[in-house]
Amino acid sequence: MTQAASLDLRFPPTGPCRRSSIAPYCERVRARLSAERFAHVMRVAELAESIALANGFDDGDLRATLLAAVLHDVAREEDVETLLRLAPPENDMERSHPLAVHGRAGRAIASEWGVNDERVLEAIEGHVFGVRPGDRIGMAVYVADVSEPGRGVNDDIRELAMVHLERAYRRAVQTKVRYLRSRGKDVHPRTLQVHDELGHPT
Ligand SMILES: [Fe+2]
Ligand SMILES: [Fe+2]
Repeated sequence: MTQAASLDLRFPPTGPCRRSSIAPYCERVRARLSAERFAHVMRVAELAESIALANGFDDGDLRATLLAAVLHDVAREEDVETLLRLAPPENDMERSHPLAVHGRAGRAIASEWGVNDERVLEAIEGHVFGVRPGDRIGMAVYVADVSEPGRGVNDDIRELAMVHLERAYRRAVQTKVRYLRSRGKDVHPRTLQVHDELGHPT
């Protein structure tokens, strides 16, 4: 059986994991995640691809977006000890909520795997707290993560991302901050910084 034929059986017949440069990472990510979480990752990667294409990303940016989407939650199911070893906490919020470092821990795993494209690494880390305005790859991954159809929320953000990525990203960050505040939860300082940088509501 050819490699292409074997890949057909492992991943959806269309989508990012059919690309030969992405498929090995799909395999490694799947080995570290539950089936449910991996299904989320596949939905994020497919949506990120749609968002990138709708927003005119060139081939290089598209590939970086897909790789970051596939890798974004690679550390999401690590135990606390591993998370904090990979990404030592930088503030009290991270010490009391170790899962908050899973983006930075994912970045560390990706680096160990030889990923050295800073745009990919930034997008993996930034999917939790947000990315700087103008980082289109990071914005596509962030928006895809919060609005993939399996979540059952944020359909408006998903639709907006197909026509205006930056506005969709701004809305996604604002929605997250509003949600956390309404539940009386801590907002990470980086998220607050991104939120303030993004400015006026949409
Ligand atoms: Fe995540
Ligand atoms: Fe995710």
